Amino acid sequence: MNLDRIGLNEAPALRIAQVTGRDARHAVIIEEFYRGLSAQTRYERFFSHRPEFGPAELERLAHPERAGELCLVALAGEEGEEIAVGEVRLVPTHEGTGREGEIALVVADDWRRLGVGRKLLCGLLAAARRAGYTGAQAYITSSNTGMLSLVRQFDFRFQPLAGGATMRLVHKDLTVTATDTGCFDPAGAPHIEAAALAIAAQ
Ligand SMILES: CC(C)(COP(=O)(O)OP(=O)(O)OC[C@H]1O[C@@H](n2cnc3c(N)ncnc32)[C@H](O)[C@@H]1OP(=O)(O)O)[C@@H](O)C(=O)NCCC(=O)NCCS
Repeated sequence: MNLDRIGLNEAPALRIAQVTGRDARHAVIIEEFYRGLSAQTRYERFFSHRPEFGPAELERLAHPERAGELCLVALAGEEGEEIAVGEVRLVPTHEGTGREGEIALVVADDWRRLGVGRKLLCGLLAAARRAGYTGAQAYITSSNTGMLSLVRQFDFRFQPLAGGATMRLVHKDLTVTATDTGCFDPAGAPHIEAAALAIAAQ
């Protein structure tokens, strides 16, 4: 597990941890995180109105162990008593000629607009490059202005999508150099992806 502290624009310092399927402590934290998401957030993350998660799905979410899957979680609170406030994962799609993955990002309802999503996405893109991914895509509901705005800042490109009125598909080429990714911290640090790379390298 890679673990470090990075400051947010306005929020208290969080720890960003890379989680694997063998990580029992983080599995409990991730289950609690998913149970706490609002109905609207569940819809934006999973694209369906679901009353709650079943045990099998929670178990699957808490143990990211598909080959090549990457999962980062943002943790707040004292060590040993942390809660997850955001999570991002990249699942291999086996599409195209290179190594491609699909991103899913979610931040707890009470932790929005504090820079958590941006930090997680930066960390994931850095970890994906290190793992040899050549591209990453994400499906986003057309009404999800927050996520659409975020991926535009990271230079994701919109892709054609059949019947794309309610969904958008975006893609980022990970073979371009890390410095022109749009991973920019408006608080002043020129390129926080460098910090994320340092974390991923530990
Ligand atoms: C989309 C989401 C991940 C953003 O997380 P977040 O931690 O609030 O985002 P950040 O604070 O890092 O915001 C980064 C930038 O994205 C844009 N942004 C984020 N939320 C926004 C919103 N609701 N409206 C407009 N812009 C928004 C802003 O430009 C923001 O920068 P700023 O706050 O300096 O203006 C979060 O809203 C979420 O979890 N939504 C539900 C799940 C989801 O939609 N997942 C996407 C499916 S893959």
